[in-house]
Amino acid sequence: MHFQWYPGHMTKARRMMQENIKLIDLIIELVDARIPLASRNPDIDELGRGKARLILLNKADLAEERMNDVWVDYFREKGYSAVKVNSKKGGGIKSIQTVIQEACKEKTERDRKRGILNRPVRAMVAGIPNVGKSTFINALAGKACARTGNKPGVTKGKQWIRLNKNVELLDTPGILWPKFEDQAVGLKLAFIGSIKDEILQTEELAAELIRFLQKSYPQALTDKYGIQMSEDVYQCLSEIAVKRHCLVRGSELDTEKSASILLEDFRSGRLGRITLESPDGNDGHKENESRKGRDK
Ligand code: G4P
Repeated sequence: MHFQWYPGHMTKARRMMQENIKLIDLIIELVDARIPLASRNPDIDELGRGKARLILLNKADLAEERMNDVWVDYFREKGYSAVKVNSKKGGGIKSIQTVIQEACKEKTERDRKRGILNRPVRAMVAGIPNVGKSTFINALAGKACARTGNKPGVTKGKQWIRLNKNVELLDTPGILWPKFEDQAVGLKLAFIGSIKDEILQTEELAAELIRFLQKSYPQALTDKYGIQMSEDVYQCLSEIAVKRHCLVRGSELDTEKSASILLEDFRSGRLGRITLESPDGNDGHKENESRKGRDK
């Protein structure tokens, strides 16, 4: 698998990020809780040098709860502020304003020493496409929030959302492009649906997902489809096709269809709460505990 993904858009997005970053104190970086590393672009560390940093494990509702906590600890140990959120349902959003203040306390303290009091923290949301940036901004800002007008030094059209007297949020998120030179990273992004299926073989992708489940969530297919996990991943796809009545020409099993069903069930959380990465790089991260914390 080798991709080159919209290089033109990438350059433009990076330029916009660079411009916007000059205006802000804090980067709120959204990552996908199911793949907290693969859904980051490492360039953000360089782009955001000198800024306060907050990492949000978004879509935490789709990832395994125990692993969400492992990842929060991981990022905190690396010096970032980090919390898990569910932007769609609003879980974890209420505490964000406090977390933002906390993440910026060094800057606030610096300001205070220089006699600058009560200057609001300016924040920008950033992340790869589809990670939930707009959903998060809407959840955080709500409808009641005032959008402030243009400010001197801010490119015309840029809007700041005043969250309260202490925090202003740039209403345009920064788009980062995922880096998927590494095949394993590309695969994980494809599993969560961040790379369009048209450029991938659906069955091949589903087969890879089954291989991952064999190691880390061996019960998942049995629980969802009532089939036995088999060594032969294509056999699993055939059995799902039987269970889901995926047929072509009347009687032939349509494994292309069952592959799509499997991927869609995974992406929407219907397969259970599943985390694809662990900080130690061992993706078969939990042979024995994989049932714990799983919500159906
Ligand atoms: P973006 O701005 O970063 O590109 O992402 P956007 O907010 O458009 O969100 C992308 C998709 O992710 C949306 O689904 C959104 O509802 C979903 N999403 C965002 N945050 C969360 C979350 O915390 N949990 C879950 N489960 N989903 C989340 P969609 O399929 O495009 O739209 P819809 O089905 O919600 O209408």
